[in-house]
Amino acid sequence: MKALSAWLLALSQVEPPRGWVKVTPAPADHIINLRIALPQAGFTSLEKALYEVSDPDHSRYGQHLSKEEVEALVAPHPQSLSAVDDWLASHGISQSDLSRSPARDWVKVKVPVSLAEEMLDTTYHVWRHVDSGETIVRTTVYGLPEHIHGHVDLVQPTTLFSTFRGMKTTYRWSANKQQSATSSAASIRSASGTVVDASCNSTITITCLKELYNATGYNSSATNGNTIGITAYLEQYANYMDLQDFYAQQRPDAVNSTFNFVSVNGGQNNQTASAAGVEADLDVEFAYGLTYPTNRTFYSTGGSPPYIPDINTPTDTNEPYAEWLDYILTSSNPPQTISTSYGDDEQTVPESYAQRACADFAQLGARGVSLMFSSGDGGVGDGDADPATQTCYTNDGLNVTRFIPGFPASCPYVTAVGGTTHVPEVAVFFSGGGFSNYFDRPSYQTEAVTQYLASLAPGTYEGLYNPSGRGIPDVSAQSDYFQIWWQGQPGYVGGTSASSPTFTGFVSLLNDALISAGRAPLGFLNPFLYSRGVAGLTDITSGNNPGCGTEGFNATIGWDPVTGLGTPNFGLLKDIVLS
Ligand SMILES: *[C@@H]1O[C@H](CO)[C@@H](O)[C@H](O)[C@H]1NC(C)=O
Ligand SMILES: *[C@@H]1O[C@H](CO)[C@@H](O)[C@H](O)[C@H]1NC(C)=O
Ligand SMILES: *[C@@H]1O[C@H](CO)[C@@H](O)[C@H](O)[C@H]1NC(C)=O
Ligand SMILES: *[C@@H]1O[C@H](CO)[C@@H](O)[C@H](O)[C@H]1NC(C)=O
Ligand SMILES: *[C@@H]1O[C@H](CO)[C@@H](O)[C@H](O)[C@H]1NC(C)=O
Ligand SMILES: *[C@@H]1O[C@H](CO)[C@@H](O)[C@H](O)[C@H]1NC(C)=O
Ligand SMILES: *[C@@H]1O[C@H](CO)[C@@H](O)[C@H](O)[C@H]1NC(C)=O
Ligand SMILES: *[C@@H]1O[C@H](CO)[C@@H](O)[C@H](O)[C@H]1NC(C)=O
Repeated sequence: MKALSAWLLALSQVEPPRGWVKVTPAPADHIINLRIALPQAGFTSLEKALYEVSDPDHSRYGQHLSKEEVEALVAPHPQSLSAVDDWLASHGISQSDLSRSPARDWVKVKVPVSLAEEMLDTTYHVWRHVDSGETIVRTTVYGLPEHIHGHVDLVQPTTLFSTFRGMKTTYRWSANKQQSATSSAASIRSASGTVVDASCNSTITITCLKELYNATGYNSSATNGNTIGITAYLEQYANYMDLQDFYAQQRPDAVNSTFNFVSVNGGQNNQTASAAGVEADLDVEFAYGLTYPTNRTFYSTGGSPPYIPDINTPTDTNEPYAEWLDYILTSSNPPQTISTSYGDDEQTVPESYAQRACADFAQLGARGVSLMFSSGDGGVGDGDADPATQTCYTNDGLNVTRFIPGFPASCPYVTAVGGTTHVPEVAVFFSGGGFSNYFDRPSYQTEAVTQYLASLAPGTYEGLYNPSGRGIPDVSAQSDYFQIWWQGQPGYVGGTSASSPTFTGFVSLLNDALISAGRAPLGFLNPFLYSRGVAGLTDITSGNNPGCGTEGFNATIGWDPVTGLGTPNFGLLKDIVLS
């Protein structure tokens, strides 16, 4: 095989990632589910359409594309299809062995390691994660024949390593509620001027959020076609009994209601009380509690067989959100509003993979779906919530200290949600924020972000972040001391895992108002938020997000990489979107 290398060009090469050790060569007969991404011929046109239909000042605003229109734009060039088919055929793979995405821009095929190694001029190994003990089959470099280089964006699983099946949840559990300055008054005033029960300074409930974000008394429809979606991974199960206990306490009119369960890629729905996930319970309790009786759907995405710490049964799963994207892009009526409280350190996702997953999120935006992602719980550092123990070393072999943004929050086609706490609100210290090293600053952010950068003292954090990168987060919401029910008990949980479903709940209520008025849903939110929408957000101007041995960035007047543009004022946003 090595003689061929002269005409095989490396498509992706990564450094052996931190935390993973190479164990043995992969067994030749181990089966790998290869996913091959073909270049999306019309992506530039799709991106242009996405920005036009999402810009409230454009004549196409709200004229979202159909599934078929999006698929036509991302379809690969016929030459790419035939070049890849010929290459697969030359390895004995026939059409009947393949499955394809509706737009034919992804091809999937199951092959033994021995054949994958021949096709990709590589050697697969079993790698073990030092902390979790998890084993996967990966390589650090692979290539393709030169003549098909222009016809393939990436092949996975190959070089994609990341911690714990590629995803981390972003919550922090606390057994006790916080002690906060006690106010003798029964009610307190928020920064926007809303009147909030004094207890909300230390315990967040559905009632608190509606008061704080000016949505008290708004009733949504169960039947207007509006749906809110929650995604779940990593065997996080939303428990029906916990949801009922939560409703009985915080949303009595919702008692006995449930949600649509959708299994993606073998995702389970284990209702054993002890299988309830904190993350999943938090997400459904708050997202559905805020929006009841709006139609609600829960996606449980499986990523791998049950984890077995046995070197003979390595897994070779792809990033689980690739599986969810496969499912949702095939769906003819996805929810208009979707929250995801999972992510990775951007640097642990190969850039080609991040670019492609981000482009797939753009397809949903063009179809009128608003996607919210938690910005992360490590401040400017990695996902490690304790700033003191963060290691902010780059994964690129240089091993220098650098701030660690999160992905998918760093994708410019999604809305990244950071965190606040207390009333009046201040930035919470763990709010994930900063600048992408993969994605350039999108034009909708130019004014807001350059204004922030100009406010920094010259030389601030030079070399630690990419000042021309996409700024994170876009917005924020309360994120600490949420009172939830989990495994039959009340408890307190925090994280941008709490703020993402919260912000999503208010976006879903805005979509409810629009749809009931016969209007299009908001779709990709950011061009709206950074223009007309900002008047319906409350700017958060104090607090900071330490990490990597620094104090992080400061919340300031205007956009900042801690709380973004600020927190929602539903009443004002509703008036803006309906005007
Ligand atoms: C809420 O709690 C914070 C932190 O303890 C405190 O600084 C703030 O004054 C409290 N707010 C009110 C209105 O009492
Ligand atoms: C919402 O529903 C409640 C209970 O039915 C009702 O009392 C309230 O007036 C409704 N609010 C609005 C704004 O219609
Ligand atoms: C609720 O959402 C599900 C999944 O998105 C959808 O299949 C169903 O038609 C929706 N139901 C209503 C009443 O809108
Ligand atoms: C919920 O269902 C139970 C059992 O059917 C019933 O006894 C109870 O009244 C219901 N509660 C509400 C609020 O509908
Ligand atoms: C459900 O979860 C429980 C508790 O973790 C576990 O013992 C049980 O095997 C699970 N059931 C299934 C079908 O996976
Ligand atoms: C990276 O540098 C740090 C600090 O010098 C060191 O502790 C760590 O072991 C290095 N890691 C690698 C993978 O070289
Ligand atoms: C944050 O504000 C503090 C206090 O004003 C200041 O000393 C510090 O330099 C600021 N940090 C940044 C990164 O702007
Ligand atoms: C709440 O929203 C309403 C519009 O629905 C607006 O009139 C009111 O001023 C808002 N309250 C605050 C405190 O912003």
